[in-house]
Amino acid sequence: MTSGLMNGGGSVSATKISLRLQYYVLLAGVGAVVVVACLKYMPAAAAVAAAGYGSWPGAQGSGLAVATRAGEAAAASEKASGGRSPVVIFNFGDSNSDTGGMAAANGMNIALPEGRTFFRRPTGRLTDGRLVIDFICESLNTPYLSPYLKALGSDFSNGVNFAIGGSTATPGGSPFSLDVQLHQFLYFRTRSFELINKGQRTPIDGEGFRKAIYAIDIGQNDLSAYLHLPYDEVVAKIPLVVAHIKFGIETLYAHGARKFWIHGTGALGCLPQKLSIPRDDDSDLDGNGCLKKYNNVAKLFNERLAESCNQLRQRMADATIVFTDMFVIKYDLVANHTKYGIERPLMACCGNGGPPYNYNHFKMCMSGEMQLCDMDARFISWDGVHLTEVANSIVASKLLTGDYSKPRIKIASLVNSTTPHDG
Ligand SMILES: *[C@@H]1O[C@H](CO)[C@@H](O)[C@H](O)[C@H]1NC(C)=O
Ligand SMILES: *[C@@H]1O[C@H](CO)[C@@H](O)[C@H](O)[C@H]1NC(C)=O
Repeated sequence: MTSGLMNGGGSVSATKISLRLQYYVLLAGVGAVVVVACLKYMPAAAAVAAAGYGSWPGAQGSGLAVATRAGEAAAASEKASGGRSPVVIFNFGDSNSDTGGMAAANGMNIALPEGRTFFRRPTGRLTDGRLVIDFICESLNTPYLSPYLKALGSDFSNGVNFAIGGSTATPGGSPFSLDVQLHQFLYFRTRSFELINKGQRTPIDGEGFRKAIYAIDIGQNDLSAYLHLPYDEVVAKIPLVVAHIKFGIETLYAHGARKFWIHGTGALGCLPQKLSIPRDDDSDLDGNGCLKKYNNVAKLFNERLAESCNQLRQRMADATIVFTDMFVIKYDLVANHTKYGIERPLMACCGNGGPPYNYNHFKMCMSGEMQLCDMDARFISWDGVHLTEVANSIVASKLLTGDYSKPRIKIASLVNSTTPHDG
Protein backbone atom coordinates (compact mmCIF):
# COMPACT_ATOMS: atom_id res chain seq x y z
CA MET A 1 0.00 0.00 0.00
CA THR A 2 1.39 3.38 -0.90
CA SER A 3 1.49 6.33 1.38
CA GLY A 4 -1.27 8.88 1.08
CA LEU A 5 1.25 11.60 1.77
CA MET A 6 3.35 13.13 -0.96
CA ASN A 7 6.74 13.64 0.61
CA GLY A 8 8.02 10.68 2.52
CA GLY A 9 5.95 10.42 5.64
CA GLY A 10 6.85 6.75 5.65
CA SER A 11 5.30 6.13 9.03
CA VAL A 12 1.99 7.60 8.06
CA SER A 13 0.17 4.93 6.16
CA ALA A 14 -2.71 5.47 3.82
CA THR A 15 -4.80 3.32 6.13
CA LYS A 16 -4.31 5.75 8.97
CA ILE A 17 -5.33 8.64 6.76
CA SER A 18 -8.39 6.74 5.71
CA LEU A 19 -9.32 5.95 9.29
CA ARG A 20 -8.82 9.54 10.38
CA LEU A 21 -10.94 10.65 7.47
CA GLN A 22 -13.63 8.22 8.52
CA TYR A 23 -13.40 9.60 12.03
CA TYR A 24 -13.89 13.16 10.92
CA VAL A 25 -16.49 12.37 8.33
CA LEU A 26 -18.61 10.29 10.60
CA LEU A 27 -17.42 10.89 14.13
CA ALA A 28 -16.46 7.98 16.30
CA GLY A 29 -19.88 7.94 17.94
CA VAL A 30 -21.81 7.82 14.71
CA GLY A 31 -19.43 5.25 13.27
CA ALA A 32 -19.90 3.03 16.30
CA VAL A 33 -23.65 3.17 15.89
CA VAL A 34 -23.43 2.08 12.29
CA VAL A 35 -20.88 -0.62 13.12
CA VAL A 36 -23.08 -2.02 15.86
CA ALA A 37 -26.10 -2.01 13.58
CA CYS A 38 -24.14 -3.72 10.80
CA LEU A 39 -22.58 -6.30 13.11
CA LYS A 40 -26.05 -7.39 14.07
CA TYR A 41 -26.68 -8.38 10.48
CA MET A 42 -23.26 -9.72 9.60
CA PRO A 43 -21.80 -13.25 9.49
CA ALA A 44 -19.65 -13.90 12.55
CA ALA A 45 -16.23 -14.04 10.85
CA ALA A 46 -16.76 -10.81 8.96
CA ALA A 47 -18.01 -9.18 12.11
CA VAL A 48 -14.77 -9.86 14.00
CA ALA A 49 -12.67 -8.34 11.23
CA ALA A 50 -14.95 -5.35 11.04
CA ALA A 51 -14.90 -4.75 14.78
CA GLY A 52 -11.11 -4.53 14.69
CA TYR A 53 -11.34 -2.28 11.64
CA GLY A 54 -8.70 -4.58 10.17
CA SER A 55 -10.55 -4.91 6.92
CA TRP A 56 -10.98 -1.28 6.15
CA PRO A 57 -9.42 -0.44 2.85
CA GLY A 58 -6.76 2.21 2.59
CA ALA A 59 -7.22 5.53 0.88
CA GLN A 60 -6.76 5.48 -2.85
CA GLY A 61 -4.25 7.48 -4.73
CA SER A 62 -1.97 10.14 -3.43
CA GLY A 63 -0.35 13.12 -5.04
CA LEU A 64 -2.15 16.32 -4.58
CA ALA A 65 -0.75 19.73 -4.48
CA VAL A 66 -1.01 22.49 -1.96
CA ALA A 67 -4.07 24.21 -3.24
CA THR A 68 -4.57 27.76 -4.25
CA ARG A 69 -8.12 28.98 -4.14
CA ALA A 70 -10.29 29.91 -7.01
CA GLY A 71 -11.19 33.44 -6.21
CA GLU A 72 -7.74 34.23 -4.90
CA ALA A 73 -7.23 36.54 -7.82
CA ALA A 74 -10.22 38.56 -6.69
CA ALA A 75 -8.81 38.76 -3.18
CA ALA A 76 -5.43 39.84 -4.49
CA SER A 77 -6.86 42.64 -6.56
CA GLU A 78 -8.92 43.78 -3.59
CA LYS A 79 -5.72 43.95 -1.59
CA ALA A 80 -3.79 45.71 -4.30
CA SER A 81 -6.39 48.43 -4.38
CA GLY A 82 -5.94 48.85 -0.63
CA GLY A 83 -9.69 48.79 -0.15
CA ARG A 84 -11.49 46.93 2.57
CA SER A 85 -13.71 44.04 1.59
CA PRO A 86 -17.32 45.18 1.80
CA VAL A 87 -18.26 41.63 2.82
CA VAL A 88 -17.00 39.99 6.00
CA ILE A 89 -18.26 36.56 7.05
CA PHE A 90 -17.26 34.58 10.11
CA ASN A 91 -18.50 31.05 9.67
CA PHE A 92 -18.84 28.30 12.27
CA GLY A 93 -19.90 24.73 11.60
CA ASP A 94 -19.15 21.21 10.44
CA SER A 95 -18.32 19.60 7.10
CA ASN A 96 -21.39 21.19 5.52
CA SER A 97 -19.42 24.44 5.42
CA ASP A 98 -15.80 23.32 5.94
CA THR A 99 -13.72 24.81 3.11
CA GLY A 100 -10.56 22.94 4.10
CA GLY A 101 -10.16 23.33 7.87
CA MET A 102 -10.25 19.67 8.78
CA ALA A 103 -7.65 18.85 6.15
CA ALA A 104 -5.42 21.71 7.33
CA ALA A 105 -5.78 20.87 11.02
CA ASN A 106 -4.83 17.25 10.50
CA GLY A 107 -2.38 17.58 7.66
CA MET A 108 -4.62 15.37 5.55
CA ASN A 109 -4.18 15.16 1.84
CA ILE A 110 -7.65 14.27 0.75
CA ALA A 111 -7.29 12.92 -2.77
CA LEU A 112 -9.43 13.10 -5.86
CA PRO A 113 -12.27 12.40 -6.63
CA GLU A 114 -13.01 14.89 -3.84
CA GLY A 115 -13.11 18.22 -5.63
CA ARG A 116 -13.24 16.67 -9.11
CA THR A 117 -16.19 18.66 -10.48
CA PHE A 118 -15.27 22.26 -9.89
CA PHE A 119 -11.84 22.83 -8.38
CA ARG A 120 -10.48 19.77 -10.21
CA ARG A 121 -8.19 19.19 -7.28
CA PRO A 122 -8.99 18.44 -3.66
CA THR A 123 -9.40 21.50 -1.46
CA GLY A 124 -10.32 19.76 1.76
CA ARG A 125 -14.02 20.14 1.08
CA LEU A 126 -15.79 16.83 1.54
CA THR A 127 -17.63 16.89 -1.77
CA ASP A 128 -16.95 16.97 -5.49
CA GLY A 129 -17.15 20.75 -5.74
CA ARG A 130 -18.56 23.81 -4.07
CA LEU A 131 -20.46 24.01 -0.80
CA VAL A 132 -23.47 26.17 0.01
CA ILE A 133 -21.15 28.64 1.77
CA ASP A 134 -19.14 28.92 -1.46
CA PHE A 135 -22.26 29.77 -3.45
CA ILE A 136 -23.21 32.32 -0.79
CA CYS A 137 -19.77 33.92 -1.18
CA GLU A 138 -20.12 33.95 -4.97
CA SER A 139 -23.53 35.61 -4.69
CA LEU A 140 -21.99 38.32 -2.51
CA ASN A 141 -19.17 38.75 -4.98
CA THR A 142 -16.52 37.86 -2.45
CA PRO A 143 -13.82 35.15 -2.56
CA TYR A 144 -14.36 31.79 -0.87
CA LEU A 145 -13.62 31.84 2.84
CA SER A 146 -10.20 30.73 4.01
CA PRO A 147 -10.09 28.14 6.79
CA TYR A 148 -8.77 29.59 10.05
CA LEU A 149 -6.17 26.84 10.38
CA LYS A 150 -4.88 26.88 6.81
CA ALA A 151 -1.35 28.23 7.02
CA LEU A 152 -0.59 28.78 3.35
CA GLY A 153 -2.51 30.82 0.84
CA SER A 154 -5.11 32.05 3.30
CA ASP A 155 -6.59 35.51 3.05
CA PHE A 156 -8.79 36.62 5.91
CA SER A 157 -9.74 40.04 4.56
CA ASN A 158 -13.30 38.90 3.80
CA GLY A 159 -13.72 36.76 6.89
CA VAL A 160 -12.64 33.52 8.46
CA ASN A 161 -14.05 30.02 8.25
CA PHE A 162 -13.86 28.21 11.59
CA ALA A 163 -15.96 25.26 10.39
CA ILE A 164 -14.32 21.85 10.69
CA GLY A 165 -15.68 18.55 9.41
CA GLY A 166 -17.10 16.31 12.12
CA SER A 167 -17.73 19.17 14.53
CA THR A 168 -20.50 19.13 17.08
CA ALA A 169 -22.35 21.91 18.86
CA THR A 170 -21.78 19.94 22.05
CA PRO A 171 -18.48 20.77 23.78
CA GLY A 172 -16.09 17.82 23.75
CA GLY A 173 -18.22 15.93 21.25
CA SER A 174 -15.46 16.51 18.66
CA PRO A 175 -11.99 18.11 18.61
CA PHE A 176 -13.29 21.37 17.14
CA SER A 177 -16.71 21.61 18.72
CA LEU A 178 -18.52 24.94 18.54
CA ASP A 179 -17.04 26.20 21.83
CA VAL A 180 -13.52 25.66 20.46
CA GLN A 181 -14.45 27.44 17.21
CA LEU A 182 -15.78 30.35 19.27
CA HIS A 183 -12.56 30.49 21.28
CA GLN A 184 -10.60 30.55 18.05
CA PHE A 185 -12.72 33.46 16.87
CA LEU A 186 -12.21 35.34 20.15
CA TYR A 187 -8.48 34.70 19.91
CA PHE A 188 -8.44 36.03 16.35
CA ARG A 189 -10.51 39.06 17.39
CA THR A 190 -8.40 39.88 20.45
CA ARG A 191 -5.13 39.64 18.48
CA SER A 192 -6.62 41.80 15.75
CA PHE A 193 -7.60 44.54 18.20
CA GLU A 194 -4.17 44.36 19.88
CA LEU A 195 -2.61 45.15 16.52
CA ILE A 196 -5.23 47.74 15.60
CA ASN A 197 -4.55 49.54 18.88
CA LYS A 198 -0.86 49.64 17.97
CA GLY A 199 -1.79 51.31 14.71
CA GLN A 200 -1.15 48.25 12.58
CA ARG A 201 -3.21 47.02 9.68
CA THR A 202 -5.11 43.77 10.15
CA PRO A 203 -7.05 41.67 7.64
CA ILE A 204 -10.28 42.83 9.28
CA ASP A 205 -10.59 46.18 11.01
CA GLY A 206 -12.87 47.17 13.87
CA GLU A 207 -15.67 48.14 11.52
CA GLY A 208 -15.28 44.81 9.75
CA PHE A 209 -15.90 42.90 12.97
CA ARG A 210 -18.94 45.06 13.71
CA LYS A 211 -20.49 44.82 10.26
CA ALA A 212 -19.67 41.15 9.68
CA ILE A 213 -22.18 38.38 9.09
CA TYR A 214 -21.80 35.63 11.69
CA ALA A 215 -22.95 32.35 10.14
CA ILE A 216 -23.55 29.08 11.98
CA ASP A 217 -24.40 25.68 10.45
CA ILE A 218 -23.96 22.94 13.04
CA GLY A 219 -25.91 20.19 14.80
CA GLN A 220 -26.00 17.39 12.23
CA ASN A 221 -23.23 15.45 13.98
CA ASP A 222 -24.80 15.90 17.41
CA LEU A 223 -28.11 14.53 16.17
CA SER A 224 -26.44 11.74 14.18
CA ALA A 225 -24.75 10.48 17.32
CA TYR A 226 -28.15 10.06 19.02
CA LEU A 227 -30.33 8.85 16.17
CA HIS A 228 -30.01 5.16 17.10
CA LEU A 229 -31.78 5.86 20.39
CA PRO A 230 -35.56 5.51 20.70
CA TYR A 231 -37.38 8.58 19.37
CA ASP A 232 -38.29 9.99 22.79
CA GLU A 233 -34.70 9.77 23.95
CA VAL A 234 -33.37 11.54 20.86
CA VAL A 235 -35.99 14.23 21.31
CA ALA A 236 -34.84 14.69 24.90
CA LYS A 237 -31.32 15.47 23.64
CA ILE A 238 -32.41 18.26 21.29
CA PRO A 239 -32.79 21.11 23.83
CA LEU A 240 -29.18 20.85 24.97
CA VAL A 241 -27.80 20.84 21.42
CA VAL A 242 -29.92 23.89 20.60
CA ALA A 243 -28.79 25.54 23.85
CA HIS A 244 -25.16 25.26 22.78
CA ILE A 245 -25.92 27.05 19.50
CA LYS A 246 -27.94 29.68 21.34
CA PHE A 247 -25.03 30.18 23.71
CA GLY A 248 -22.79 30.59 20.69
CA ILE A 249 -24.97 33.40 19.37
CA GLU A 250 -25.01 35.06 22.80
CA THR A 251 -21.23 34.82 23.04
CA LEU A 252 -20.75 36.40 19.63
CA TYR A 253 -23.29 39.11 20.45
CA ALA A 254 -21.42 39.90 23.67
CA HIS A 255 -18.37 40.48 21.48
CA GLY A 256 -20.01 42.88 19.10
CA ALA A 257 -21.69 40.63 16.53
CA ARG A 258 -25.01 42.03 15.30
CA LYS A 259 -25.79 40.10 12.10
CA PHE A 260 -26.47 36.40 12.40
CA TRP A 261 -27.18 33.88 9.66
CA ILE A 262 -28.24 30.56 11.22
CA HIS A 263 -28.89 27.33 9.30
CA GLY A 264 -31.10 24.53 10.56
CA THR A 265 -30.20 20.95 9.81
CA GLY A 266 -31.04 18.98 6.67
CA ALA A 267 -33.17 15.93 5.87
CA LEU A 268 -31.06 13.42 7.81
CA GLY A 269 -33.51 10.60 7.09
CA CYS A 270 -32.86 10.89 3.36
CA LEU A 271 -29.08 10.40 3.59
CA PRO A 272 -27.81 7.14 2.02
CA GLN A 273 -25.58 6.67 5.08
CA LYS A 274 -28.63 6.54 7.35
CA LEU A 275 -30.79 4.61 4.90
CA SER A 276 -28.18 1.87 4.51
CA ILE A 277 -28.19 1.03 8.21
CA PRO A 278 -29.78 -2.42 8.26
CA ARG A 279 -33.43 -2.37 9.42
CA ASP A 280 -35.98 -5.01 10.24
CA ASP A 281 -38.60 -3.68 7.81
CA ASP A 282 -39.55 -0.61 5.80
CA SER A 283 -42.37 0.58 8.04
CA ASP A 284 -40.41 3.72 8.97
CA LEU A 285 -39.97 4.83 5.34
CA ASP A 286 -42.10 7.71 4.08
CA GLY A 287 -43.54 8.16 0.59
CA ASN A 288 -40.18 9.35 -0.71
CA GLY A 289 -38.25 6.47 0.81
CA CYS A 290 -36.74 8.50 3.65
CA LEU A 291 -36.63 7.51 7.31
CA LYS A 292 -39.51 9.20 9.13
CA LYS A 293 -37.98 9.04 12.59
CA TYR A 294 -34.73 10.71 11.53
CA ASN A 295 -36.54 13.38 9.56
CA ASN A 296 -38.89 14.09 12.45
CA VAL A 297 -35.87 14.60 14.68
CA ALA A 298 -34.38 17.00 12.15
CA LYS A 299 -37.66 18.94 11.83
CA LEU A 300 -38.05 19.17 15.60
CA PHE A 301 -34.46 20.35 15.99
CA ASN A 302 -35.11 23.10 13.44
CA GLU A 303 -38.31 24.13 15.21
CA ARG A 304 -36.47 24.44 18.50
CA LEU A 305 -33.59 26.33 16.95
CA ALA A 306 -36.04 28.69 15.24
CA GLU A 307 -37.77 29.26 18.60
CA SER A 308 -34.44 30.08 20.21
CA CYS A 309 -33.75 32.59 17.45
CA ASN A 310 -37.16 34.16 18.16
CA GLN A 311 -36.29 34.49 21.83
CA LEU A 312 -32.91 35.99 21.09
CA ARG A 313 -34.49 38.50 18.68
CA GLN A 314 -36.67 39.78 21.52
CA ARG A 315 -33.64 40.26 23.75
CA MET A 316 -31.21 41.58 21.17
CA ALA A 317 -33.20 44.41 19.67
CA ASP A 318 -30.19 45.85 17.85
CA ALA A 319 -29.33 42.59 16.10
CA THR A 320 -30.61 40.81 13.01
CA ILE A 321 -30.94 37.08 13.53
CA VAL A 322 -31.95 35.13 10.44
CA PHE A 323 -32.88 31.48 10.68
CA THR A 324 -33.05 29.40 7.50
CA ASP A 325 -34.84 26.07 7.46
CA MET A 326 -32.49 23.77 5.57
CA PHE A 327 -34.78 20.79 6.08
CA VAL A 328 -37.50 22.25 3.88
CA ILE A 329 -34.98 23.09 1.17
CA LYS A 330 -33.15 19.76 1.28
CA TYR A 331 -36.27 17.62 1.56
CA ASP A 332 -37.78 19.35 -1.46
CA LEU A 333 -34.69 18.30 -3.39
CA VAL A 334 -35.53 14.64 -2.68
CA ALA A 335 -39.31 14.89 -3.00
CA ASN A 336 -39.20 16.88 -6.26
CA HIS A 337 -35.99 15.34 -7.60
CA THR A 338 -37.28 14.83 -11.14
CA LYS A 339 -37.89 18.56 -11.41
CA TYR A 340 -34.17 19.03 -10.76
CA GLY A 341 -33.11 16.37 -13.25
CA ILE A 342 -32.07 13.93 -10.55
CA GLU A 343 -32.84 10.25 -11.07
CA ARG A 344 -31.74 8.59 -7.86
CA PRO A 345 -32.25 10.95 -4.95
CA LEU A 346 -31.32 8.42 -2.26
CA MET A 347 -28.18 6.99 -3.84
CA ALA A 348 -24.64 8.20 -3.23
CA CYS A 349 -22.50 9.09 -6.22
CA CYS A 350 -19.34 7.88 -4.49
CA GLY A 351 -19.67 4.74 -2.38
CA ASN A 352 -20.05 1.04 -2.81
CA GLY A 353 -22.74 -1.51 -3.54
CA GLY A 354 -24.78 0.12 -6.29
CA PRO A 355 -28.52 0.75 -5.99
CA PRO A 356 -30.49 1.51 -3.98
CA TYR A 357 -28.05 3.55 -1.85
CA ASN A 358 -24.51 2.81 -3.11
CA TYR A 359 -23.30 3.13 0.45
CA ASN A 360 -21.30 0.66 2.49
CA HIS A 361 -19.89 1.84 5.79
CA PHE A 362 -16.87 -0.43 5.35
CA LYS A 363 -16.23 0.52 1.73
CA MET A 364 -16.87 4.21 1.73
CA CYS A 365 -16.07 6.88 -0.80
CA MET A 366 -12.27 7.35 -0.77
CA SER A 367 -11.70 3.72 0.09
CA GLY A 368 -9.99 1.42 -2.39
CA GLU A 369 -13.29 -0.14 -3.36
CA MET A 370 -15.31 2.94 -4.04
CA GLN A 371 -17.73 2.98 -6.95
CA LEU A 372 -18.09 6.37 -8.53
CA CYS A 373 -20.86 7.84 -10.68
CA ASP A 374 -20.13 9.52 -14.01
CA MET A 375 -18.90 13.09 -13.99
CA ASP A 376 -22.07 14.41 -15.61
CA ALA A 377 -24.52 12.34 -13.56
CA ARG A 378 -26.77 14.40 -11.30
CA PHE A 379 -26.81 13.03 -7.76
CA ILE A 380 -27.95 14.66 -4.53
CA SER A 381 -25.59 12.74 -2.29
CA TRP A 382 -21.88 12.75 -2.93
CA ASP A 383 -20.62 10.18 -0.42
CA GLY A 384 -23.71 9.20 1.52
CA VAL A 385 -23.33 12.03 4.03
CA HIS A 386 -22.44 15.16 2.08
CA LEU A 387 -24.31 16.72 -0.81
CA THR A 388 -22.86 17.04 -4.29
CA GLU A 389 -22.01 20.36 -5.86
CA VAL A 390 -25.14 20.04 -8.02
CA ALA A 391 -27.29 19.64 -4.91
CA ASN A 392 -25.47 22.42 -3.08
CA SER A 393 -26.06 24.79 -5.99
CA ILE A 394 -29.80 24.07 -5.97
CA VAL A 395 -29.94 24.42 -2.19
CA ALA A 396 -28.03 27.70 -2.37
CA SER A 397 -30.24 29.13 -5.11
CA LYS A 398 -33.31 28.48 -2.96
CA LEU A 399 -31.63 29.76 0.19
CA LEU A 400 -30.56 32.94 -1.55
CA THR A 401 -34.18 33.83 -2.36
CA GLY A 402 -34.72 34.50 1.34
CA ASP A 403 -38.08 32.73 1.11
CA TYR A 404 -37.00 29.99 3.50
CA SER A 405 -35.66 32.41 6.07
CA LYS A 406 -37.14 34.08 9.07
CA PRO A 407 -37.25 37.04 8.85
CA ARG A 408 -37.75 36.72 5.10
CA ILE A 409 -34.68 38.55 3.91
CA LYS A 410 -31.82 37.89 1.54
CA ILE A 411 -28.33 37.48 2.96
CA ALA A 412 -27.14 40.22 0.59
CA SER A 413 -29.36 42.71 2.41
CA LEU A 414 -27.36 42.08 5.58
CA VAL A 415 -24.07 43.16 4.08
CA ASN A 416 -24.58 46.91 4.09
CA SER A 417 -27.44 47.14 6.55
CA THR A 418 -26.97 49.26 9.66
CA THR A 419 -30.39 48.83 11.20
CA PRO A 420 -31.76 45.53 12.46
CA HIS A 421 -34.36 43.62 10.48
CA ASP A 422 -37.39 42.59 12.48
CA GLY A 423 -38.46 39.01 12.86
C1 LIG B 1 -42.45 20.02 -4.45
O1 LIG B 1 -42.62 21.10 -5.33
C2 LIG B 1 -43.89 21.72 -5.23
C3 LIG B 1 -43.98 22.74 -6.33
O2 LIG B 1 -42.89 23.64 -6.27
C4 LIG B 1 -44.06 22.30 -3.86
O3 LIG B 1 -45.32 22.91 -3.71
C5 LIG B 1 -43.90 21.22 -2.81
O4 LIG B 1 -43.94 21.77 -1.53
C6 LIG B 1 -42.60 20.48 -3.02
N1 LIG B 1 -42.54 19.33 -2.10
C7 LIG B 1 -41.78 19.29 -1.02
C8 LIG B 1 -41.91 18.06 -0.19
O5 LIG B 1 -41.02 20.18 -0.71
C1 LIG C 1 -22.62 47.18 -0.29
O1 LIG C 1 -22.14 48.48 -0.54
C2 LIG C 1 -21.04 48.54 -1.45
C3 LIG C 1 -20.50 49.95 -1.47
O2 LIG C 1 -21.54 50.87 -1.68
C4 LIG C 1 -21.52 48.05 -2.80
O3 LIG C 1 -20.48 48.08 -3.72
C5 LIG C 1 -22.02 46.64 -2.67
O4 LIG C 1 -22.58 46.18 -3.88
C6 LIG C 1 -23.09 46.50 -1.57
N1 LIG C 1 -23.28 45.10 -1.35
C7 LIG C 1 -24.49 44.54 -1.30
C8 LIG C 1 -24.52 43.07 -1.18
O5 LIG C 1 -25.53 45.17 -1.35
